[in-house]
Formats: sequence, C-alpha cells, structure tokens
Amino acid sequence: MTIEEKLAELERRNAEAELGGGPARIEKQHQGGKLTARERIHILLDEGSFQETDKFVIHRCTNFGMDQQHLPGDGVITGYGMIDGRLVYAFAQDFGVFGGSLSKAFAEKICKIMDMAMKMGAPVIGLNDSGGARIQEGVQALAGYGDIFLRNVMASGVVPQFSAIMGPCAGGAAYSPAITDFIFMVRDTSYMFITGPEVIKTVTRDEVTKEELGGAMTHNEVSGTAHFASDDDEGCLLMMRELFSFIPLNNQEDPPLKACTDDPHRGEAALRDLVPTNSNSPYDMKEVITAVVDDQYFFEVQEHYARNILIGFARLNGRSVGIIANQPNFMAGALDSDSSMKGARFVRFCDAFNISLVIFEDVPGFMPGVEQELGGIIKHGAKLLYAMAEATVPKLTVITRKAYGGAYCVMNSKHIRADYVFAYPTAEIAVMGPEGAVSIIHRDKMANAEDAEATRDELVADYRDKFANPYNAAELGYVDEVIDPTETRPKLIRALEMLKNKRDLNPPRKHGNIPL
Ligand code: HXC
Repeated sequence: MTIEEKLAELERRNAEAELGGGPARIEKQHQGGKLTARERIHILLDEGSFQETDKFVIHRCTNFGMDQQHLPGDGVITGYGMIDGRLVYAFAQDFGVFGGSLSKAFAEKICKIMDMAMKMGAPVIGLNDSGGARIQEGVQALAGYGDIFLRNVMASGVVPQFSAIMGPCAGGAAYSPAITDFIFMVRDTSYMFITGPEVIKTVTRDEVTKEELGGAMTHNEVSGTAHFASDDDEGCLLMMRELFSFIPLNNQEDPPLKACTDDPHRGEAALRDLVPTNSNSPYDMKEVITAVVDDQYFFEVQEHYARNILIGFARLNGRSVGIIANQPNFMAGALDSDSSMKGARFVRFCDAFNISLVIFEDVPGFMPGVEQELGGIIKHGAKLLYAMAEATVPKLTVITRKAYGGAYCVMNSKHIRADYVFAYPTAEIAVMGPEGAVSIIHRDKMANAEDAEATRDELVADYRDKFANPYNAAELGYVDEVIDPTETRPKLIRALEMLKNKRDLNPPRKHGNIPL
C-alpha cells in the first residue's frame, strides 16, 4: 500500500469512529433535545484543542452475538484539551453507541485519561449519558466501574473532578459522579437514581416518575446530590467552563489570578444600611457579598438547596475565594443538618485546592426542633465544625449581625483558627439572643414581677446593651477589627494579601475521622 492509500485508510477509520452509532441515532439524540457526545466535547473545550485518545478501541465481548457488533471507540470519547488555555482531561459517553453502556474496554479508556490526569496534575471532566453496565459483559463491566470508582477516590483532593449528567445515569454508575467534586444536571433530559421507578414500584409500591425520582431539580433542590442545573446541554457545558475559571489545576497549585479592573479600595456606602436596625428583620446576604466582590460577580453553588447557607466562588482583587454565608432571608439563617453538610463539603473542596475562605456570618444558632435532633443535627452540624477547624487555607470572617451560641464557634471563629475576624458595629456576639437569654437567667424575676411584660422588656434591653454588640468579643481579642461596613472590600483584600504566604499544617496522621 502507498502512503496515500494508508492515509485514506486512516481517514476512513476516523470518519467511521466520528459517526458514532450512525446518523439515525444522532438524529434521535437531537430529537430528544440532547447533543451528541462529540458536540458536547467541542462546546466544553477551547476550539480546536481536543486531542482524542483511543478512538479505535473496541470491546472484547463475545456473548450474545456481540462479536458481530463493533463500533470504534466503543461508546465513549476520551482525551485532553484546554479550557481558557488550561489543560483538562475529559470523557463523554455516547448514548448512540450501545446506549452509552459501559464495557471493560470503555472503562479502560476512562481509566487511562484519569491516570494521565493524576500524573500531569490536571482536572477530569466526565459527561455522563449511559444505560449503565453493558449487560452482555456481566461482571467485566462491573469490574470496569470498580476501576473507575477507585480512581475517583484516589484523585479526590488531588485534581478537581466535575461530572455532568446529560441523560440517564442509573444504578451503581451514579456513584462515580457522586464521588466527584461537582455535579451538573440538565433539566428534563437527565436523571440519576440507584433504582428506577419500575423497581421501586415492585419493591415498595411507590409510584413515582423518573423526573420526580432523579431529575435535575430533584437533585438540586431536594436531595442536594447535584450542584448546578441548566436548561440545556450548551448551558451546562458553559457553566462547567465558568466553574473551571475559579479553580487551580491540582492541589499543588494556587487558583488562577484574573486581571482585576474593580478598584480594590472601593468603599460601598450601601453596606451601612443593608443590615436592618431591627435585629430580627431579614435581609439578603447575597447583596452583601455582591457589594464586596470583584465586579459584583458571585458564582453561586447549590443555589436551590439548603438556602439558609450560601456557598460559591467569587474574586477579590482577581484572587479566587470560596464564600460561605448565612442567609438571614431563609430560616433566619439558622444552621440545620442540610446546610451544615452543604457548607462542610464546600469548605473541604476549597481547602483541598488552596482556595481562601471568606465567611459572612449572621446566624441565630443551630435550628431547634424534634425533626432536626432526630435527624442527626449533632453529627451533621459537627461536619461543618470539623471542616472549618481542619481547613488550613487563609480563613476570614465578617460578622454582620448575629453570632450566637455553638454556631458562633462553628462559623470560622478565632478559636478554630480563623486568621482574621471582622465585625460590623451591628454585630451581636453572645451565647444566645437577648429574648432567650432573659427567659432563662431572669425566670424568677419575671415570674414575681407585677408587670411581667415591662420587666421583660427592661431585662431584654439591659442584656442587649451588655452583649448584643461586638465589643465584648473585641475586648477579648476574639474579633480582630470592628469596621465600618463601607470598608469591607478593601479590608478583606488587604487581609488576603497579608495571608498570601500563610503556611499551616495539621498533625501527621493517616486521615482524620470527620463525623460522616
Ligand atoms: C447494553 C444497552 C444498555 C445496557 C441500553 N442499551 N442500556 N445495551 N447494556 N445497559 C442499548 C439498548 O439495548 C438499545 O439498543 C440502545 O442502547 C438504546 O436504548 P433504548 O432502550 O432504546 O433507549 P431509551 O428508550 O432511551 O432507554 C434508555 C434506558 C434503557 C432507560 C437507559 O435503555 C434502559 O433501561 N437500559 C438498561 C438500564 C440498566 O438496567 N442498566 C444496568 C444498570 S445496573 P438497540 O440496539 O436496541 O437500539 C448498573 C450496575 C453498575 O449499571 C454497577 C456499578 C458498580
């Protein structure tokens, strides 16, 4: 054969592989409102940057006539490319080829790029759209999943891992995305569950639709398994690129610096009036965050879940920061089990990847209630405490109003290694709110008073004067600075600059034992 003939053969093979399951299946994918695996990869990565590995790999199964059915690539596209010029490894499952089902060869392709990502120190992005284990392969397919799960665990905290669910993701297959750092889902076309509606109906007689059981909003709003929801494939992939811009490529790098055009000295007078004078009135903590960060841009994570805590990324003078904030607009910002877990996992991600933490605090305490207690608020709240205390990245706190009780300690207090704590003059730092405190320490006085209500008001006012302010804590050095809210942005930027070379280590050990 001449070189021209050999090149023609290569071209023919490439074209065959690029056709996936063929035009009819591509058409079916489009009709279902979904893009093909190849189209998705091209949106995810910088134009022309994708380099495909293992394009000609085929499965080795001979059961059920599978030896007569081979499609090059075997249902998953793997390789590397760039996002904003930064290296990333990616795979996209192709539902058009054997329903995107996972064979041993398919799994080996994914494992290969995961191993490369670990060696080269770059993130892995997985686009999932699959019928699960390739049924014809039996235990070999399960072995393939096991090999991927192990790599997901080994890569955790070493390189960032993102998963998009862009079709079915059922059975044990869901555990690979679940181990990764962030899960993105597409509304109406993606679902994730361990057992589907049919099996559930047989076992428990519950009737439920796929969407209710494992759709994008179920996992974004109710279960908290997913972190982002988008309206279509393109929106999902662009959101992944956006998240990528905040994070470092691996645990030995700092996050990327973005040129900042927002004045680092910018004061924000509106912050003076944001915290209401009535300490029980709600306000939107997102307004505080956006007033402070670069270009007012807060990239919120898990915005639909446990809305009493806000988490997300922003930049301060171009530097990525992870923000955790109580939200007085929802459940008065009290911490419950779900918000504690949401906050804890985010703190651990930021700490693993050298992203400084900024905490905005206005918390009346942990949520009282039988449901919370029986649901394990002690162990779940302890997760947030553990994660905050364990984190060694630069940690800043801004107390805007309430910092009460155990929640005061948990929300990055000095006692668990906050590097710098700011408080607004509106801060109230105490064991509990004045009303609750008075009803306990002055129970007798109020019981014997002629005018119980007037006495109570007097005692509450007295307690408020003594404790509902930042100065007790400031006198003890538990607050580093009481600041005019206007100055929040420049103060945080200066503190981050001061902490740039922070080095802090936890004691050597195999690993800690976070209360899971
Ligand atoms: C082999 C599969 C497959 C699978 C789908 N296909 N899933 N082939 N193994 N797991 C094939 C179908 O036979 C079909 O081929 C093509 O893919 C498209 O599938 P359809 O059923 O036509 O598509 P749709 O109607 O959209 O339904 C999608 C689906 C359904 C809901 C995902 O295919 C389905 O229920 N599949 C089985 C899901 C499952 O039970 N998987 C095993 C889970 S257990 P043809 O040639 O006919 O078009 C598991 C364990 C993991 O994954 C454990 C890890 C530890």
